[in-house]
Amino acid sequence: MNVTRCVLAVFSPTGGTQKIAQAVGKGTGLPVRTVDLCQNADACTIGPEELLVAACPVFGGRIPAVAGERLARLQGAGGPAIAVAVYGNRAYDDALLELKDVLTAGGFTVCAAGAFIAEHSMVREVAAGRPDAKDAAAAQEFGEKVVQKVRQAASLSSVEVPGSPAYKEKKAAGAAPKAGKKCVACGQCAAVCPVGAIPPAAPNTTTDACIGCMRCVAVCPQNARDLAAPMKLAVKTFLKASAGKPKQPEMFL
Ligand SMILES: Cc1cc2nc3c(=O)[nH]c(=O)nc-3n(C[C@H](O)[C@H](O)[C@H](O)COP(=O)(O)O)c2cc1C
Ligand code: SF4
Ligand code: SF4
Repeated sequence: MNVTRCVLAVFSPTGGTQKIAQAVGKGTGLPVRTVDLCQNADACTIGPEELLVAACPVFGGRIPAVAGERLARLQGAGGPAIAVAVYGNRAYDDALLELKDVLTAGGFTVCAAGAFIAEHSMVREVAAGRPDAKDAAAAQEFGEKVVQKVRQAASLSSVEVPGSPAYKEKKAAGAAPKAGKKCVACGQCAAVCPVGAIPPAAPNTTTDACIGCMRCVAVCPQNARDLAAPMKLAVKTFLKASAGKPKQPEMFL
């Protein structure tokens, strides 16, 4: 099969997933274009000569619902796709399988998949500095190998990935960060919230639409937004027990 272009479809509220997707894209050696799933993009078709890299963070062992909905608007026309899940060193549970299922339903053949590690966006000390140079090199090499595999194949087959088809039960939306006294109402957080949960006219508030993705916390120039202290402590304690030892990328192809 021939592939001539690479499309990165990426949901990356705080940038870790984006870094991995870019390294995979670089490894393919193909011209790359990006579909930003943090924006509410229209439906579009990805041609059979295009290699899709669909990359999502892991939220509660699943892919974020909004990322799945936006990915489902991409139509595959039988072309190849790579499923990439990026997680904060706890576990990716059923996220890779769920991502593969969404892509398969959209008409893609998921011929490769990978799970990579990035800083935990709720508690950034967990997996701090990831993805590091080693992670990026592994992601790049993975991209190279997938293109070789696609080019050598007369027809593509779908790859097996870990996960339970029942999927881990979805938790209620993640905890919503709040703006504190340092907020100067600049509106930067409202402009980038993937689900419009921060009213532009009142950016020191957060609505129930919040999915807890931490993007507003990451972009606030005043460091005015964060989770409430008791919630942050509870997540920290949980992660200390479950996300201690550094995990390594896993690739399936
Ligand atoms: C609401 C929420 C839930 C998360 N759940 C998990 C999880 O189940 N397992 C895990 O290892 N990391 C989890 N993480 C960490 C993210 O998967 C990780 O930080 C990822 O790199 C974030 O992607 P981004 O940098 O592209 O935003 C969670 C983060 C958030 C905000
Ligand atoms: S980015 Fe920070 S300072 Fe600006 S409106 Fe949002 S919370 Fe306030
Ligand atoms: S308000 Fe919620 S959904 Fe919006 S950027 Fe902040 S954490 Fe993400």
